[in-house]
Amino acid sequence: MSPYAHIAGWGMYAPARVLSNQDLEHMVDTTDEWIRSRTGIVERRIAGEKESTATMAVEAARRALARAHLSPRQLDAIIVATISPDHLTPATACLVQAALGADKAAAFDVSAGCSGFIYALSLAQMGITAGEWHSVLIIGAETLSRFVNWEDRNTCVLFGDGAGALVLTASDQPGGVLACVLGADGSGADLLVIPAGGSRMPASPATLEQHAHTIHMDGRAVFRFATHILPEAVEQVMRKAGLPLTAIDMVIPHQANMRIIEAARKKLRLPEEAFFVNLYRYGNTSAASIPIALCEVADHGLINDGSLVVLVGFGAGLTWGAAAVRWGVALPQPARPWWQRALYIARLAFGRLPAFLRRLLYRLWQALPSRRDEE
Ligand code: UT7
Repeated sequence: MSPYAHIAGWGMYAPARVLSNQDLEHMVDTTDEWIRSRTGIVERRIAGEKESTATMAVEAARRALARAHLSPRQLDAIIVATISPDHLTPATACLVQAALGADKAAAFDVSAGCSGFIYALSLAQMGITAGEWHSVLIIGAETLSRFVNWEDRNTCVLFGDGAGALVLTASDQPGGVLACVLGADGSGADLLVIPAGGSRMPASPATLEQHAHTIHMDGRAVFRFATHILPEAVEQVMRKAGLPLTAIDMVIPHQANMRIIEAARKKLRLPEEAFFVNLYRYGNTSAASIPIALCEVADHGLINDGSLVVLVGFGAGLTWGAAAVRWGVALPQPARPWWQRALYIARLAFGRLPAFLRRLLYRLWQALPSRRDEE
């Protein structure tokens, strides 16, 4: 019998700096009233100078691993969902892997817009149920503040920074991720796009002047797509899980716009308390929004063992995805002696040390006079 993919740990990170709607009133031609009534957003978090998608992902990951009582060395794979990676290459997941010291884990990124976290979750579930992986770390992390045009009121009021992570592990106990559905419609690729910086439009003084390295969005078209696809994806995943809509305890939708969430809720005829919303505090954090919301739901005790949770996302691509999860962290944790616990904490704290030492040794090796003579 194939194993089930259970959620064993969760963790989030939000940068300290808060940017309120009132702050934005001083930056572009907008009002607190417009942003609140059209989106539901009140404030968002902005990454500090020394922070990046990888650093925030690492913080969220450490918290998720600690909750799962798992050492980074036990991870088989790390998947980071992001549209704002540290670099075009290497993958942000590799930076996370080195920082954690998860030296046995495969590491790669997923780029599927705001649906990226559901794509990552689905891949993790497939790897676990196929028996290929035992423990997988998935992270949604974004530093969108570095990719918005702060002079464009159509987009700069919407987005925020942050990261959320889940640890999934294999278990024989039924439950965990019950079903996932994924979809895409590339004909809408131009509706939400960062035009420059890739192979089609490499960076140049002209692309910089045109703000072509920032997010361009046809908000109305994406809005129409979202209100239609969000309820449909929920229905699809519940059908695949073989459960009626009435079995849902909590829907955690991508946090883009209160009006989109409300329209979907009405279409699905679910009560208000069945939809979790925290976008008023974080804005739209793209691939990070669903895991951040899930962390808050779990930390506030809004779901219990046995709760049926549906995660649903939509975004650039266009893409969409939904997952039905039977919540319940019923995984047995082995009792560990004090020295093993101390070792575990040290490994989490100093995980980046092995990668640092390896780089240092390599540099020293390169600098050896005999090596230079050889070259
Ligand atoms: O996470 C990825 C997926 N993205 C989304 O889900 C975003 C989906 N779209 C939306 O959430 C909404 O379309 C927006 C919030 C982006 C825009 O709301 P809207 O109700 O669709 O507004 P609109 O684009 O139709 O614009 C209405 C008016 C326009 O003025 P005119 O042309 O009617 O005179 C805009 O110029 O509002 C104006 N406007 C603003 N006014 C004040 C646009 N942005 C602002 C602003 N402050 N920040």
